[in-house]
Amino acid sequence: MTSSSRYRVSVYHLPDQVEKLGCCLPALGNMLVIRGSRALNCSLLVNGGKLPVLPSSNLATRLKSTNKEEQDVTSKRAPKEIEEMIRVNHAGELGADRIYAGQMAVLGKTSSGPLIQHMWDQEKAHRATFERIIHERRVRPTVMVPIWNVAGFVLGAGTALLGPKAAMACTVAVETVIVEHYNDQLRKLAAEPNPDTALMEVISKFRDEEQEHHDTGLEEGAEQAPLYDVLTDVIKLGCKVAISISKVV
Ligand SMILES: [Fe+2]
Ligand SMILES: [Fe+2]
Repeated sequence: MTSSSRYRVSVYHLPDQVEKLGCCLPALGNMLVIRGSRALNCSLLVNGGKLPVLPSSNLATRLKSTNKEEQDVTSKRAPKEIEEMIRVNHAGELGADRIYAGQMAVLGKTSSGPLIQHMWDQEKAHRATFERIIHERRVRPTVMVPIWNVAGFVLGAGTALLGPKAAMACTVAVETVIVEHYNDQLRKLAAEPNPDTALMEVISKFRDEEQEHHDTGLEEGAEQAPLYDVLTDVIKLGCKVAISISKVV
């Protein structure tokens, strides 16, 4: 058990006289409520004698948590491979959010603005979802978060400065890699004996929206951007490298 105050332990049937608590916590009537790991090392000095606090018969269940939501989250603690998926998806959606932020900073007031804003709003929702999942499943975010934050914005703004078609070429390149990446994850998850259907649902919804962004980019003339092939190849390579790094560090 960690030393967080996430756990609540209730010890009933305290003796009438409690001279000193091994841990300084309030006694409420005949119930002592102890939060955190201190409960495991707690003892009471009663009438001059030391009385260990032992778990009562139903304490094992109480030790888990009194909060239903926390119990659900605990049970969902991610195994290593799922952890990597969540870490990289969290990083990717953060990067995507920043790319569209960069595009909006340059093209927000042009005719491309509303379309980019629409895609950005979807990316913000993707990011928020993985912010929630990474927290719920207790996955460590990549240490690269600050780098991706800046790199995403620079990529979005930089390509937008080359013109709206270059911005769309950036979208096509990024979304191509992300759609492939999400499809890979879906294949892996589906092959599990007990597939994580909750995660699969999220990924599959986002995959569809990333595909829409990709298609929008093409419809908006991405392929007419200057040096389209070179630009998209470089961005795709950058995204793949970022994915590999974010899985592990
Ligand atoms: Fe996204
Ligand atoms: Fe997207």
